[in-house]
Amino acid sequence: MTAFGKLPEIIQGGMGAGVSNWTLANAVSKLGQMGVVSGTALDTVVARRLQLGDIGGDVRRALANFPWQDTVRDILDTYFVPGGKSPETSFKLISMPSLPMKRISAELLIVANFVEVFLAKENHDGLVGINFLEKIQIPTLPSLLGAMLAGVDFVLMGAGIPLAIPGALDGLARWEPVEIKINVDENTENHAFSHRFDPAEYFTGELPELKRPGFLAIISSDIVAKTMVRKANGYVDGFVVEYHNAGGHNAPPRRVRSTTGEDLPPSFGPKDMPNLERIKDLGRPFWLAGGYASPERLQEAFELGATGVQVGTVFAYSRESGILSDIKQKVLQQTLDGKIDIKTDFRISPTGYPFKVVQLENTISEPASAVKRKRICDLGYLRQAYFKPDSDSKMGYRCPSEPIKNYVKKGGTEENTVGRGCLCNGLLATIGMAQTRSNITEIPVVTSGEDFTTVIEIAKIYGTKYTANDVLDFLTKGLAMPVAEKALEV
Ligand SMILES: Cc1cc2nc3c(=O)[nH]c(=O)nc-3n(C[C@H](O)[C@H](O)[C@H](O)COP(=O)(O)O)c2cc1C
Repeated sequence: MTAFGKLPEIIQGGMGAGVSNWTLANAVSKLGQMGVVSGTALDTVVARRLQLGDIGGDVRRALANFPWQDTVRDILDTYFVPGGKSPETSFKLISMPSLPMKRISAELLIVANFVEVFLAKENHDGLVGINFLEKIQIPTLPSLLGAMLAGVDFVLMGAGIPLAIPGALDGLARWEPVEIKINVDENTENHAFSHRFDPAEYFTGELPELKRPGFLAIISSDIVAKTMVRKANGYVDGFVVEYHNAGGHNAPPRRVRSTTGEDLPPSFGPKDMPNLERIKDLGRPFWLAGGYASPERLQEAFELGATGVQVGTVFAYSRESGILSDIKQKVLQQTLDGKIDIKTDFRISPTGYPFKVVQLENTISEPASAVKRKRICDLGYLRQAYFKPDSDSKMGYRCPSEPIKNYVKKGGTEENTVGRGCLCNGLLATIGMAQTRSNITEIPVVTSGEDFTTVIEIAKIYGTKYTANDVLDFLTKGLAMPVAEKALEV
C-alpha cells in the first residue's frame, strides 16, 4: 500500500476538452483503476452544460454540495437555462483567461473543477485524477483549488514542464497564497510576470481541510523527468511517460538538420524516444502511454518496471466519453473498414506543439470545411501572453488562429498564422458544445492516438457501443496483476 492506497495498473488518460468527462472517469474509478477528468476549459464546459439545461440535473446536484452557496447562486443566475437554450441561440461566452483575473472568472473555475471531480468521485472509493496542460497557465491555480475542494486524488500535467505545480499543491493544501510564473513572449525588459492566488480570499467562514493530491508529470523525455525531480518546487509523485504516437498534443520533436545544416520539416525519430532505464533510476512510479492499450503491452510495461499504463484512444470511443455519439460511430466504422487515418499535424495547434488529427469528413481535417470557417478567437485558452509595455498589466494576449490582421497588429508574424486551426472551438464542437454565430456553427476537430489495434478488437468483441467496463475487462483479462506498490512520499 502507498500513501494513496493501491496504485492503479491502468490510468484512463485525461482527454480534453470534455472527452474524459466525469461520466467516463467515474466508471473507470468505480472499477478499481484510475479515472481522470480533463480540467481543460472546464469553466466553459460547465457553463455550457448549464446553458443546455443540465438535463438529468447532475451539475446542479454537484453544485448543491459546493460549500459556498452564494457563489453557486451567482453562477446559476448567469448561465442556467431551464430546458436548455434553442439550437440557433449562441452560447453565452465567459471572459477569456487573462490577468489580473476577475473574481467571477476565478469563482467559475473553482466551482467548475469542483463539479467535475465531485461527480467523478460520486458513489465509490476509487482514485480520481484531473489533467491539466502546462501550456494553459492562467486558469490553473483556481482550477486546482476547485478540484482539491472535491477531494481529487491525483493531478496529472503535461504539455510543458510544470515545475511550479507540486509546490502550489502543497500551498493550497494549507490554504496559503500560491504563485506561478507566467511565460510572456518578447519580455525584453525581463519583467517578472506571475499569477498570485490566495485561496482564502474567495471564501468566508471555516475553511475545510484539503488533501494534497499526488502529482504525476506527463513527460516524453528522461531529461525532462530528471529536471522535474531536481528542480520542481515540491514532490513529484511519479510520471506518465508518453510516446509520440499518443493522442492530443505531443511533445515537439527534436530539430532535424540536413547534411548541409538546413532545418528539415519536423518529424519524430529515434532521438525522441525516452530512456526508460534513466526514468526507472529516478525511483518514482511510472506509467507508459501511447499504444499501450492491450494485455500484452500492459504485461510488457510491468516487465519494463512500470506500475502500469495510461490509455486514451480506446476510452475516447467508449460509450461514456464526451465525444458526440455520431462522431464516435463514424470513426469506429471507418476503423472497422480499415480506413482510419490519423495525421500528426505540426501546424494546426496554436501552441506550436504537434497535434494528432483524425481525418474525418465534416471536421477541421477537411481543408474545405476549415476554409469555410471565419477566424475568430472568443474562448482564448491557447492565447499566448506577450509583453505589451503600454498596457497597465504590461501583458497582451494573441493567438495565431485569431484573425490574421489582429495577430499581426499585436506583433505576431503572418507566417505563424499559416495552417493554424481553432482547437478551442473545434474541440468543444466535438463534445456537442459547438458555438453558433449568425447561423454558422463551429466544426469539430477529432484527436486520437495512432494505434487503433485495440479499438478494432474491442469493437469486434463488444460492438461499437462498448463501455469503459468492456475496455477494462479486455485489458486485464487473464493477467496476473503484479501490482507495483512503490512507496510514495507525501
Ligand atoms: C481524444 C484525446 C484527447 C486527449 N487530450 C489530452 C489532454 O488534454 N491532456 C493530456 O495530457 N493528454 C491528452 N491525451 C492523451 C491521453 O491522455 C493518453 O496519454 C494517450 O491517449 C495514450 O495513448 P493511446 O491513445 O494510444 O492510448 C488525449 C488523447 C486523446 C485520444
